Amino acid sequence: MSIITAHNIHRRFGKGALEVHILKGIDIDIQAGEFVAIMGKSGAGKSTLMYQLSVLDEPSEGTVVIDGTDVSELREQDRTAFRLNTLGYIFQNYALVPDLSAEENVMLPLLMRGRGWLEARAAAENALASVGLGNKYKNLPAELSGGEQQRVAVARAIAGKPRIIFADEPTANLDSVSGQQIIDLLSDLHQQSKQTIVMVTHEPEYAAPCDRVLYMEDGLITKELSPSELQQL
Ligand SMILES: Nc1ncnc2c1ncn2[C@@H]1O[C@H](COP(=O)(O)OP(=O)(O)OP(=O)(O)O)[C@@H](O)[C@H]1O
Ligand SMILES: [Mg+2]
Repeated sequence: MSIITAHNIHRRFGKGALEVHILKGIDIDIQAGEFVAIMGKSGAGKSTLMYQLSVLDEPSEGTVVIDGTDVSELREQDRTAFRLNTLGYIFQNYALVPDLSAEENVMLPLLMRGRGWLEARAAAENALASVGLGNKYKNLPAELSGGEQQRVAVARAIAGKPRIIFADEPTANLDSVSGQQIIDLLSDLHQQSKQTIVMVTHEPEYAAPCDRVLYMEDGLITKELSPSELQQL
C-alpha cells in the first residue's frame, strides 16, 4: 500500500528574473513499511524535497498524497494537526528546546496533540528507554552529548507512533560510532515495527539497511538503486 505518493513536484523560489527552479518534476511512490534513502550531492535538492514530502513546505506545482490525504487541500491548522498526528521528524541539528529536559522535549509534541500529562510522560519515558537513555530523562540538552541529543530527537519522533518518520541527515553532526547508533535505531524500528522511514544521508554505509536509494541530481531523481549498488555512484 502506498503511504506517500508525490506527483510532478516542482518547487521554485523567488519571483521574476530572480526565480530559481529547484525541484523540477519529481514523482515518488513510497510503500507503507519501506525504509527509503535519498542521496545526492550538496545542493541537489534533497532537503527541499523532504520539506515537500513532510508537509513543512508546499510545492509550487504537483501533488503530495500521504496516507490517503491530499495535503495540498488541508487548511493551515489542519496541516499542523496532520503533521503532529501522522509525521515524526529528525533533523540534523537535533532541534531540541534547550530549557526543557530530555523527557519534556519528548513530551512536548504529545501534549500538543492533546495527550494528558501522565500519559505523555509515560510514552516519553518508554521512548527514551528504547533509545538507551533510560537514565537521562531529567538532563537538559546541554547536559547530553551530541549523539545522546540526537537519540532524544529520535525518541521524540517515535513517541507518538507516527505513520512516517522523516530524517534529514540525522547523523551529520555525529562521530561514526554515534552515527551508526542512530542508523541502528532507525533500522530496528523499520525491521521490528515496520516503520516507514524516509532518510537523507551522504554516507553509503548508512544507507545499507534501506530498502532502496533514490539518487537526486539537480532537482530530479535520476537513479533508483539498491544499497548494494551504491558503489556505482
Ligand atoms: N528558500 C530558498 N530560496 C532560494 N533558494 C533555495 C531556498 N531553499 C533552498 N534553495 C536552494 O535550493 C538548492 C537545493 O537546496 P537543498 O537544501 O534542498 O539541497 P540539499 O540537497 O539538501 O543539499 P545538502 O546536501 O547540502 O543539504 C540550493 O541551491 C539552495 O540554495
Ligand atoms: Mg540538505
